Amino acid sequence: MRLTILGGGGFRVPLVYRALLEDHGKGRVTHVTLHDLDPQRMAAIARVLAALAEGVPDAPAVRVTTDFEEAVTGADFIFSAIRVGGLDGRAIDERVALAEGVVGQETVGAGGIAYGLRTVPVARQLAQKIAWLAPDAWVINFTNPAGMVTEAMSPFLGDRVIGICDSPVGLGRRVAGALGVDPASVWLDYAGLNHLGWLRGVWAGGRDLLPELMRDEDALTSFEEGKLFGADWLRTIGHVPNEYLHYYYFAREAVDAARAAADTRGAVLIKQQDRFYGHTDTHPFRSWENTRLERETTYMADARDAAGAGDRASTDLQSGGYERVALALMRAIALDERTTLILNVRGRGVLGTLDPDAVVEVPCFVDANGARPVTVEPLTGHAAGLVAAVKSVEHDVIEAATTGSRSVALRAFATHPLVDSARVAARLLERYEAELPQLAYLSGRS
Ligand code: G6P
Ligand code: MN
Repeated sequence: MRLTILGGGGFRVPLVYRALLEDHGKGRVTHVTLHDLDPQRMAAIARVLAALAEGVPDAPAVRVTTDFEEAVTGADFIFSAIRVGGLDGRAIDERVALAEGVVGQETVGAGGIAYGLRTVPVARQLAQKIAWLAPDAWVINFTNPAGMVTEAMSPFLGDRVIGICDSPVGLGRRVAGALGVDPASVWLDYAGLNHLGWLRGVWAGGRDLLPELMRDEDALTSFEEGKLFGADWLRTIGHVPNEYLHYYYFAREAVDAARAAADTRGAVLIKQQDRFYGHTDTHPFRSWENTRLERETTYMADARDAAGAGDRASTDLQSGGYERVALALMRAIALDERTTLILNVRGRGVLGTLDPDAVVEVPCFVDANGARPVTVEPLTGHAAGLVAAVKSVEHDVIEAATTGSRSVALRAFATHPLVDSARVAARLLERYEAELPQLAYLSGRS
């Protein structure tokens, strides 16, 4: 089986390759093609992959190319993990938003909108080219903002593009751990959009175990989300939210903490990655692994500071989420091994009022025919409202990116629940346009 990774010079590519190396079964990936616009970054990652493959006789062959057509032609699976504008773009997204006192995270609030406006036009082009050059390939989208980007690719690829994220599976693993049950044995009643979902129930033997967890103060505050949100808030809403909902429920504290920090997340990662990409000649694996651990240790540091959550649990530093979801999905499709995974797919009305083509993040049955959303309990109350509001923003971003309409882009900023003034929205858009050359397409004519 042939796998192509777009954004093949990306830092997390070795995680995927390491997981592939553990797979010796039938139908495993035998060929990996990395594609990137930056040959130096790709060469650095290729050195890490070579180090990982040492002594593994059936290691997948690795080829690198900067030629898109060559990269995707003949691929069975294509992972899309690109970052339009690089980490410099991410740091601008954050800085501009924070200067206006609003959330600038890469997937949430004004930062997510700016990143989406930059990424959607590119993602649409990629999808169009893939549909033409590799019509039988399955596309697994990791590119953030993952839900919005998956939706932007779906008019060209239909149900053959599937978005993934590791936070729901991580949440499920942590909650199962707190309950003392095997994560593989429970049904996670999780629903929402990417980075905007809630765990509403944890079912085992026909019973929901979540109420039991809600009553147990120690267990409830023993894991990442319990620490971020606090037991009182979790009991108030009766659900365990995705960690990214911290930016909604504690927006003010999150902004204060990010403004107080010496560097934004993007700026921190620029420094970390500059060190790594410049030093892969002698000990590529060691330098990658050290950088990876540093990245995991500092993940969501501002949010954890704001909540007084302390350090991350050592089990959360291992990774294993991101690449395992991707591999499980790929195997289920390629080998027709039926499984259930929480994925980003067109919802087909599974979340009530959203339009059937809207991409949602819900449990899906996966087999050789792809991923189908499972019927879940409807979202209710504020969760339903928040999802509708944010999906409408995502639709505006996709529309602006498709038509070039500046006024639709402005509407995306102004109607986001985390942007509290239309005047602030106008300034945000102006600043982003001034700092991000990729937004030049917003014509101002419509
Ligand atoms: C989690 C999120 C991803 C994100 C990753 C890295 O896994 O679900 O969407 O890309 O963390 O975040 P970072 O802040 O380190 O880039
Ligand atoms: Mn994610």
